[in-house]
Amino acid sequence: MHSAVSSPAPEWLTPPDDANDLVPAVWPASAERDADGELVLGGVTAGRLVRTYGTPLQVLDETEVRRRAHVLRAAFDAAARAHGTTARVYYAGKALLNTTIVRWVLDEGLNVDVCTGGELEVALAAGADAGRLGFHGNNKSVAELERAVAAGVGTIIIDSAIEIERLAAIVSRGASAAGADAAQRVMLRVNSGVHAETHDFLATAHEDQKFGTPLQLAPELVARIREIEGLEFVGLHCHIGSQIFGVAGFRESASRVLDLHQELLAGGDIPQLNLGGGFGIAYTRADAPEPIETLADGIVAAVAEGCAARGIPVPALSFEPGRAIVGNAGVTLYEVGTIKDVALEVGTRRYVSVDGGMSDNARPALYGAQYSARLASRAGEGAPVLVRVVGKHCESGDIVVDHEHLPGDVAPGDLLAVAATGAYCAPLSSNYNHVPRPPIVAVRDGESRVIVRGESMADLLARDAGIQR
Ligand code: LLP
Repeated sequence: MHSAVSSPAPEWLTPPDDANDLVPAVWPASAERDADGELVLGGVTAGRLVRTYGTPLQVLDETEVRRRAHVLRAAFDAAARAHGTTARVYYAGKALLNTTIVRWVLDEGLNVDVCTGGELEVALAAGADAGRLGFHGNNKSVAELERAVAAGVGTIIIDSAIEIERLAAIVSRGASAAGADAAQRVMLRVNSGVHAETHDFLATAHEDQKFGTPLQLAPELVARIREIEGLEFVGLHCHIGSQIFGVAGFRESASRVLDLHQELLAGGDIPQLNLGGGFGIAYTRADAPEPIETLADGIVAAVAEGCAARGIPVPALSFEPGRAIVGNAGVTLYEVGTIKDVALEVGTRRYVSVDGGMSDNARPALYGAQYSARLASRAGEGAPVLVRVVGKHCESGDIVVDHEHLPGDVAPGDLLAVAATGAYCAPLSSNYNHVPRPPIVAVRDGESRVIVRGESMADLLARDAGIQR
């Protein structure tokens, strides 16, 4: 209860002993301070990165992405083996997608899930074997479905009755990459009525959201899919939310979906079950996600027990983590510009402005998401002060880090690093206020390279048809 009386800090934000510390759960494993106190990522100092590429800069630690992909895959493999089944992991590309990252995760033995025609093109441009792709979306167009079928996408996850008929028309024309005889494998996404958000889950009979088919309607849709010669129904899909902690929501959802799975077995084999993604990560020192091994075992055990109780075989499982693979591998570097102390009714808040903001990270504005920041160009001195890091956009909700303690001597010209920006930052970025999007640079073993180039002023003006060229 330190906060309410004397400071505007929220209760979850405990002041650190050292406001230069790098909490291991939040930062990539390679993050450290060198002898001068400068932040080093993947063996490259923040100063060197910024001298080469400028600010703002999205840094992605390749080793961390690969390690997390590997750990997830190994954890689900081990859990599946222990419970007599197999598990496949799809990287949910919506979290961060470019051809380089697709190659990294494929290389680590993962598959890739895409949810629009654009994401599909990136995965194909990376040279991905289309058979290792899953295609999602609640409103896939006919053109997108045609492209997916023609490319030979491994699994299309059907979201609605209308989509079944769209696919039926496409496969009846023999458009499959594998030829007219090969059936297109499909799953049906169901809405289990379980909605999990961070630490809690909510279970209802009727979930009020756009994704998937309500459980009650699924038998009718599956029967229709099974009638269509060019489609092969391989199983149910269910994704209950994102940034989820613990297994309780997955357990409840799996139990509901297994009731349906069992019912549908009367109409034929169902080899697979996909339980989606959503595994939570640490954004601040207050977040303590369980080890992925614990989650994997808890979820797979729940499915295996549920199958045993129903006397049915355990299907091959799939999972679709996005954030858990890339979130903590990303760090954004900014330069500090102006600083203001704003007197509040209770205490003072120091506003630290940086040269980016909601155009490169919309999550604080969109979701009230919390982040962690540290001085990057040096270790600071002075007692920790409560700051709010804000961007340069013309909007008061343009917050980068809502609440953080930084060394009291934070000053204009310092480099600031914001942790855990690898997921859902670049994909949600915009050109609001005509701010160019930053480059994405990969670091590994002391080397850095651009994997997505930054936007130039020329890029910003390129689509304005009123400019004489
Ligand atoms: N599978 C499906 C069907 C999904 O819809 C999602 C996320 C995932 C997998 C991956 O979830 P993850 O493991 O990354 O949590 N923009 C929001 C998150 C939106 C997530 C949408 N679907 C955010 O920034 O928090």
